[in-house]
Amino acid sequence: MEHDSGYVAVVRELERLVSTRPPGAALPSMRELQQRFQVSSLTVQRALSTLATRGLLVTRPGRGTFTATHRAPSRAGDSAWQTLALGSRPNLTAHLEELLAPTPPDLLPLASAFLDEGLQPLGLLAAAAARAARRPHGWSRPPVDGLEELRSYLADELGPSYRADNVLVTAGGQAALAAACRYLAVPGDPIVLEAPTYIGALAAARGAGLVAVPVPADQHGVLPDVLADALARSRARLVYLQPRHANPTGATLAADRRQAVLHAVQRAGAFLVEDDWVRGLDLDGPTPAPLAASDQDGHVVYIRSLTKPVAAGLRVAALVARGPALTRLRRGRITDDLFVAPVLQHAALDVLTAPGWNRHLTGLRRALRQRRDSLVAALRTDLPECQLHLVPAGGVHLWLRLPEGADETATVNAAHQHGVAVSPGRSYFPAEPPGPYLRLSYAAAAPATLLDAVTRLARAIHQTAGRSVKGDGRRS
Ligand SMILES: Cc1ncc(COP(=O)(O)O)c(C=O)c1O
Repeated sequence: MEHDSGYVAVVRELERLVSTRPPGAALPSMRELQQRFQVSSLTVQRALSTLATRGLLVTRPGRGTFTATHRAPSRAGDSAWQTLALGSRPNLTAHLEELLAPTPPDLLPLASAFLDEGLQPLGLLAAAAARAARRPHGWSRPPVDGLEELRSYLADELGPSYRADNVLVTAGGQAALAAACRYLAVPGDPIVLEAPTYIGALAAARGAGLVAVPVPADQHGVLPDVLADALARSRARLVYLQPRHANPTGATLAADRRQAVLHAVQRAGAFLVEDDWVRGLDLDGPTPAPLAASDQDGHVVYIRSLTKPVAAGLRVAALVARGPALTRLRRGRITDDLFVAPVLQHAALDVLTAPGWNRHLTGLRRALRQRRDSLVAALRTDLPECQLHLVPAGGVHLWLRLPEGADETATVNAAHQHGVAVSPGRSYFPAEPPGPYLRLSYAAAAPATLLDAVTRLARAIHQTAGRSVKGDGRRS
């Protein structure tokens, strides 16, 4: 990743470019901009979305980026004074921001982990949102912990030992994660996490001032002995794991490791934050119940997100805990944002209990299975030199190991130049990565797009490795 000075310079150059063009004029493509500024495509992407947020640009999917038709009159202010006022905040990195930057219209979207609109239950959502908006008191203050009916539904889903009282509704899994990091630990505390792990978990931990203690994992999840050892050595009281279809590796915690993991956490007197981020997206048959279902004593703090099986915009999740930790999380998250909009909570419950919900989930799993299998087959054919250690039994990603010695940053840039957005592996590691990786997502691209993307990616990888591809590189 370039330093922020590169990004700032690109923003300035783009501002100049926009100011010289009439409203509604097309901007050069991502690739041209990248070549012109000699920076990575991630930096261009970040700069474009900064200008889009400021209303200077609009991106039209499939068509390109344009200068805005209506520009707010602006006075060129000087915010240089802020540098001194803000000081430095080294823990707030740009990785999550980059991951969430919209995919430019001229790139195929293999970096986004959210469902494309073709897979979202748009009919269910529209009906649910319309009903929710018309409800009496729909815009009034709801109970701060969340709507009783929604909390009951989410508690029942988790098992008979949980009740609505254990559930706090949060604005998405990320808000729950941030609350867990902020309120179950204090700045400077260690947190044990798998390496690699979800960028947003690393961001939440860093943002809370925690010190990451990475532990390795394999295709069957975290190794209980190593976890126990890391807990003993670091004296950490907080562990973050994704036992099902982990982002980015796809690993699911093996049945014979579950009790040992729970015991390690219990022996250390620690909390385990269990991020069940793709609940419902088992693609090869059911996986074991969440660890939270086997915990009676409040060691497991459970997070269930709704965005992955529904849509990114349904910012509703459950944060489930027991005992004083629940009280602390409740107080903490009220401090953060009071409560989640009741309309959204009603809409979420309506979707989950709609007659069409199970049909949606079945169709979604079928579509994701087809996408995953297409992507795996294409990678095996076109990129045999790259390794897939695991074909995940669920979720939305593949974790691809690039050949030994490959330059990950150059590969990501080359992929962008060939029209594919992929996520660089290094951002998923709390410390130095053991090798070059890419995370490839099949949530936002249909099978034909995935095949096209792999053809382009293969060209990019071969080009980066200094080899030339014969012919026009098309799939036969
Ligand atoms: C592993 C993991 N946990 C949590 C989240 C956050 O999800 P939400 O959209 O509910 O905030 C994500 C989003 O990509 C994720 O990948």
